[in-house]
Amino acid sequence: MGFEQYHEPAGELPQETRTFARMIVSLTEEAEAINWYEQRISVEKDRDARAIMKNAQQEEMKHFGMDLEFLLRQKPKWREILKGILFQDGDIVKHGEEAEEDAK
Ligand SMILES: [Fe+2]
Repeated sequence: MGFEQYHEPAGELPQETRTFARMIVSLTEEAEAINWYEQRISVEKDRDARAIMKNAQQEEMKHFGMDLEFLLRQKPKWREILKGILFQDGDIVKHGEEAEEDAK
């Protein structure tokens, strides 16, 4: 079992910070799984195998979204910024800059 998510002595970290670290690690693991499935799907020739992997990839995206939502509930300012970026049409970078400015 690895404890690489801690960069400070775990015993000195408050429970909330340890949970936050676990969820950050989960988020990155879900993102890695999404990436691995994307690559597997792109090379798999069998239609049924591709369908199963697409289904699994969608599950990983759901997990990614739940992890992100958990983290954003801990960080209201991040949540405000992402509200200005996610699910918006148009220039992503512009939305990001504006959302960050609005959240100051
Ligand atoms: Fe997952």
